[in-house]
Amino acid sequence: RVVYVNGEFLPEEEAKISIFDRGFLFADGVYEVSTILDGKMVDNPAHLERLGRSMYELGMTPPCSMEEIEVIQQEMLKRNPIQEGGLYLQVTRGAADRDFVYPDESTRSSLIMFTQEKPVVESALAKRGMRISFQPDIRWQRRDIKTVGLLPASMAKVAAQGEGADDAWMVEDGKVTEGTSNNAYIITQDDVLVTKARSNKILHGITRKAVLALAKEEGLTIEERDFTPEEAKLAKEAFVTSASTFVTGVVNIDGQQLGNGTPGPMTIRLREIYIDFAR
Ligand code: PDD
Repeated sequence: RVVYVNGEFLPEEEAKISIFDRGFLFADGVYEVSTILDGKMVDNPAHLERLGRSMYELGMTPPCSMEEIEVIQQEMLKRNPIQEGGLYLQVTRGAADRDFVYPDESTRSSLIMFTQEKPVVESALAKRGMRISFQPDIRWQRRDIKTVGLLPASMAKVAAQGEGADDAWMVEDGKVTEGTSNNAYIITQDDVLVTKARSNKILHGITRKAVLALAKEEGLTIEERDFTPEEAKLAKEAFVTSASTFVTGVVNIDGQQLGNGTPGPMTIRLREIYIDFAR
């Protein structure tokens, strides 16, 4: 694998970051994951736009222009010719002596990228469907900023797997917020697609936006509102969306099987039309 670090394309073993990097010391960094399908990035301009917003919200000086970032991304795809997988990109506030106060503008932010190869369309999990368990949402109050502070999400996923599930849906004030690295949806018994409305409580998924637009075109009734764990368990279908999982069915919630225990027909349909859109 060839990775990118601050101006250089290097074999991954040679890539290095300072121990004083604020991403390492303070989780003072933001990231994006763009899926690679047929050797090309999916919906990448939307990811770069969100990256810009994340940096803006944290007062972080961008390492270079968005156009330059895209040039580097394309070069990464050339040097790592994979058909399906992801391109990970991270910007941190850079390396400075440890201080809670942000360093001044002379500290250059740091940009790194790497690719990960994995099946996207023929995903085993999408075929089988995911099992979800509920975990308390102990994350901070700016979940709309895509920071690398992912320990609470990681803890929730590990706890879910410890209970025999594949992933967690996180719960706050008796309402489902989102998955550990995806947005959460249910389809009610009367065919209403429900997902939490955008706010500081969830990440505004790029896949979420595209899937809601496609669902609307399909004529589905959509309600962007809170739902409870109890309502989720009574759902006809459920699924998650993210850059890495596209639309992936949920077949079991907190031990309750949904339908016949395989991804539901509307979920499968939405996955298909999203893949068409992505191509
Ligand atoms: N996760 N919610 C959270 C908490 C996420 O981390 C993600 C993305 C999403 C979905 O966003 P999008 O559709 O833009 O990928 C929702 C990425 C894929 C990750 O951390 O690997």
